Amino acid sequence: MEKRLSEAFTEYRRLLRDFQDLLRGDFRRPREEEPPIRIDPPSGAGAALRGGRAGAAWASAGGPLPRSGAGGVSGPAAPGKAAEGHPEAAPRKAGAAEGRGAAALLADLAEEVRVCGLCPLAAGRNRAVPGDGVPEPLILVIGEGPGGEEDLQGLPFVGPAGRYLDKWLEAVGMSRKTDVFITNVVKCRPPGNRDPQPQETAACAPFLERQRDILRPRAVLALGRVAAQTLLGESRGIGALRGTVHRWKGLPLVATYHPSAVLRDPSLRRSVWEDLKRLQELVGPRDLRALPKN
Ligand code: URA
Repeated sequence: MEKRLSEAFTEYRRLLRDFQDLLRGDFRRPREEEPPIRIDPPSGAGAALRGGRAGAAWASAGGPLPRSGAGGVSGPAAPGKAAEGHPEAAPRKAGAAEGRGAAALLADLAEEVRVCGLCPLAAGRNRAVPGDGVPEPLILVIGEGPGGEEDLQGLPFVGPAGRYLDKWLEAVGMSRKTDVFITNVVKCRPPGNRDPQPQETAACAPFLERQRDILRPRAVLALGRVAAQTLLGESRGIGALRGTVHRWKGLPLVATYHPSAVLRDPSLRRSVWEDLKRLQELVGPRDLRALPKN
C-alpha cells in the first residue's frame, strides 16, 4: 500500500512539473522530445554506447537474470554472485505504459544490476552500485565507476569524492535527496580503481540508457574524463570537453572535472564552478553559494 502511494505521489509530482513547465511556456525542455520509456531488459554487450565505442560480446560470459524485486529506488545492493542466463531470454517487463511509476521501474532495474554478470567486473565486486537519488531528478550525475567505499556500501559517491560532490550540488542549490540521481558508466568496481575498459562500459550501457529513459532529467553532469569520453564517444581530454554544453541522447550534457581530481588539484575549482553554473542555468534559477575548497 505504502509503495503504491509512493508511486502515485511520484507520478503526481511528475505531472505537476510538466504542467508547471507548460504554464511557463518552457517548450525547450528535453523531456518533451524524449522517446517513450523503454522497458526492455538490457540488450547485452552488443548494445554499445551510441557514439562509436564498440564493445566485445560478453554475452557468452553469462548475463543477468532480470527479475522484479521490491527494494527502493536506491539502497545498497546485496552482495552476491552473478546470476545465470541472458537478458535476451528474460520476459518483457511491465512498464510505464502499464501505469508503473519511475520508482518501481528504477527498483526493478537496480535489482537487475545487482545480479548482472554481463562483464568480468561482476566477478570482483562486493556489491554492484545501481545508483542513488530521486526518481524524478532535475540532474542525472554520471561518474566513472564505483570505488572501494562504494563497492562496500552499494551506493555511488559515498567516499571523499562523493562528500565533495554533495558540496558542489549544495553550492548550486541542489541535493541528491531532492533534485539529483547519481550513477556511473559502470556499475561494478574496476579492480584497483583502473579505468573501465570499453567492453565493460559497453556491457553496462543499456542500464544507463534505461536509467535515463526512466528518470528523464533535464540535464546531465558527466564527472571526469572517463565518463565524458564514454558518453560522448570522444577521445579528447576533460580539459577540452568541459566548458560547453554537449548533447547526449537528446539531453544537454555538461562535463566537468572529477571531484577526486579537484581534491588533488584545487586550481581546477574555478573551471568546475563555471561548469556548475552552466548546469544550473540549464535547469532554472537557484540560489548560488560559493564552491567550497574540499
Ligand atoms: N568515483 C566515481 O566515478 N564514482 C563513484 O561512485 C565514486 C567515485
